[in-house]
Amino acid sequence: MPQAKPLRSSSTGALAGTARVPGDKSISHRALMFGAVAVGETVIHGLLEGEDVLHTAAAMRALGAFAERGADGVWRVRGVGVGGLGEPAQVLDMGNSGTAARLLIGLVSAHPITTFFTGDGSLNKRPMARVITPLEQMGASFVSRAGGRLPLAVIGSDKMVPITYRLPVPSAQVKSAVLLAGLNTQGVTTVIEAEPTRDHSELMLRHFGATVTTERLEDGALAVSVTGQPELTGREIVVPADPSSAAFPAVAALLRPGSELLLTDVGLNPRRAGIYETLVEMGGDIEYLNRRDLAGEPVADLRVKGSALKGVVVPAERAPSMIDEYPVLAAAAACAEGTTVMLGLKELRVKESDRLAMVAEGLTRCGVKVEVGADDSLTVHGTGKPPQGGATVATAMDHRIAMSFLVLGMATAEPVQVDDGTFIDTSFPGFVGLMNGLGAKIA
Ligand code: S3P
Repeated sequence: MPQAKPLRSSSTGALAGTARVPGDKSISHRALMFGAVAVGETVIHGLLEGEDVLHTAAAMRALGAFAERGADGVWRVRGVGVGGLGEPAQVLDMGNSGTAARLLIGLVSAHPITTFFTGDGSLNKRPMARVITPLEQMGASFVSRAGGRLPLAVIGSDKMVPITYRLPVPSAQVKSAVLLAGLNTQGVTTVIEAEPTRDHSELMLRHFGATVTTERLEDGALAVSVTGQPELTGREIVVPADPSSAAFPAVAALLRPGSELLLTDVGLNPRRAGIYETLVEMGGDIEYLNRRDLAGEPVADLRVKGSALKGVVVPAERAPSMIDEYPVLAAAAACAEGTTVMLGLKELRVKESDRLAMVAEGLTRCGVKVEVGADDSLTVHGTGKPPQGGATVATAMDHRIAMSFLVLGMATAEPVQVDDGTFIDTSFPGFVGLMNGLGAKIA
């Protein structure tokens, strides 16, 4: 376990400059996994080289695929074909990454191999029953700690039965785990989602040659189906800049009067873009320039200018499209004028930390008035004046809690310190350097 690295962020003037934040984490994990079960070579440009994704790369190697970074910074994956993964000799350590763990549990469950998974202190607390339940229905067996926690063993099978599974929680990770198990299952495996969650798996599986269909049901839910045992072919993938990571400099720029940033190549998949919609509603000056497609995903360059923000109500329906951005939105809300109410945040409780609790506690320490509702809502009372700050905030091994409070510290009267910045490397390596290059004072 690396030593904790406290970081302190002090109030800054206007931010300026152009930056490309690192590659999208969700897309990076999937590019490595799908490349590993395709035939031939997959070439990945702009892969996120954060700890989470590096754990996925190591796991794919342990399962028999070739996955390496070239001297040119381009990653190459040579796959084993659908159904071709081999039993790893060691326990797969997924570090801090719920996406890596849940998607891979799905993928290996449809192979006749036994795979052991573990993670760090944060991941080993997170619920895995949400993937175990449907995968058991398909025919895989599990041995896990109480409550379906890691470490766990998956005893997979190549004779799984296809199911139709209605998601009990709006989770792209659960949807993807079932679809990936369906890849090596004869017949059609279907996942029904009442609320649209990110569809990177669907888009990328099609890109690799799988048949993935969607159908709108009478009750408005979406049925997503994959036809089993396709021949996937290695592809070229250009990973957009991560919209979740771009939200940190974007909010920072909004909070500092006179700022002007250009954030390039930002992924704007509509099922990920809720944070930008919300910031614009709050009065944020965000322009989408040069809209285009990058390997099947919509992207744009974002021009963000310092703005006077006002409080808004963020509806629960929007939560899946900005589920990772509530901590940084809460930082924005703390500096806005008026009250911001964020509804439907139950899933925040099972992220890298209990983000609802951590955000409320950190903001309170920084002198911001907040309430957590019994309905898992968060209300932040902004006064339009800089919050006091001057506190040390606990991060509980959570990269986004750390980055969100460092952004808040750029606008508070006194500096904000986070107790540990090491986990920032899981999703945003180079965060401090990039932010300081734009005018932040994080040390
Ligand atoms: C992810 C889905 C989300 C998100 C996570 C990445 C993915 O989790 O919070 O950071 O890549 O599928 P859930 O689908 O469990 O909400």
